[in-house]
Amino acid sequence: MKYPYTQQFRQNLVEWFHREQRNLPWRHTKDPYKIWVSEVMLQQTRVDTVIPYYQRFIDKYPTLESLAGADEEELLKMWEGLGYYSRARNLQAGVREVVEKYGGTVPNNRHDLQKLKGVGPYTAGAILSIAYNLPEHAVDGNVMRVLSRVLHITEDISLPRTRKIFEKAVDELIHPDYPGDFNQALMDLGAMICTPVSPKCLLCPVREYCLGFMEGDADQLPIKTKKTKSKNEYYDVYIAVNDGKILFERRPSEGLLANMWQFPMMPKKQPSENTWEPFELKYNVTITKVLEENFVEQKHVFSHLTWNMSCHLIEISENGPFPDSVQFVTLKEMEALPLPVPMAKIMNILNRYIFHSPE
Ligand code: ADE
Repeated sequence: MKYPYTQQFRQNLVEWFHREQRNLPWRHTKDPYKIWVSEVMLQQTRVDTVIPYYQRFIDKYPTLESLAGADEEELLKMWEGLGYYSRARNLQAGVREVVEKYGGTVPNNRHDLQKLKGVGPYTAGAILSIAYNLPEHAVDGNVMRVLSRVLHITEDISLPRTRKIFEKAVDELIHPDYPGDFNQALMDLGAMICTPVSPKCLLCPVREYCLGFMEGDADQLPIKTKKTKSKNEYYDVYIAVNDGKILFERRPSEGLLANMWQFPMMPKKQPSENTWEPFELKYNVTITKVLEENFVEQKHVFSHLTWNMSCHLIEISENGPFPDSVQFVTLKEMEALPLPVPMAKIMNILNRYIFHSPE
């Protein structure tokens, strides 16, 4: 059956957006570069978290050219706390391509945009519709949830091919005069009304045109079979002090948290494994004093795995030679380096309970 409410749905949705949209900093611009930055930050991260990052980022890198020329460590520092740091690196690589290949003008067609590093169908559609006012779909998980309910689509959204069904649906539904507003209205509806649990159907501006609401099973949609299973990993983390400086290590340039800084971590096959000796061997140090064993157990959940960290405060003698990735830094020097969230959490605890503890 063809959806019979296309006109009313798009009209009511856009009118609602014009009345009720959230006041967000990237909604005061049509600059495709700034829209691009906002959309990359908003992937996997909540709007409230993104706002201050976006503002600081745009102050520091107001143009494509300024980001293209940015120092990587400084860039990672600006991204610190947002997570998924490869997004920042890909964004910079994409921006550099635009400067080199397109003279600094962000392409205004899907074909060229999607060839840029880090730009997929969603980001391309968001840039095209919001910055260039073109009728292009921008389908993410939130949009799939909203439309699965409105159109009563029962295909499994954990299958990659299902996205195409939703892209086609947006192509048909999108408001030809307000494509950017239409796409952002779906996002706002998903965030404020058509929420994953307990959707607020009674407040919904398009309830009358929602097949899920009519069927009475809107809150059972979307159908999602595959659960992403998170893997547990266990580490000893060593806060190793020598002469007022702390042993610090840069992560490899590929993979999780690439190029970010951390306290040395030793993986454990099981929580009870002891890694003190392997730690001394790997870093060429000798533990001279254990100041506080297990001073904190810290957990950090990534999308696909969980780090369980047992943190130890120790004194070491510096034997060396040290691996290239390693430096001894003061607390002040450490603050200037890009720290991933799990390390920042440990730093905060250290600062509160140890370095600033009352005498
Ligand atoms: N989530 C992703 N993109 C967004 C946008 N432009 N506005 C609000 N939420 C979003």
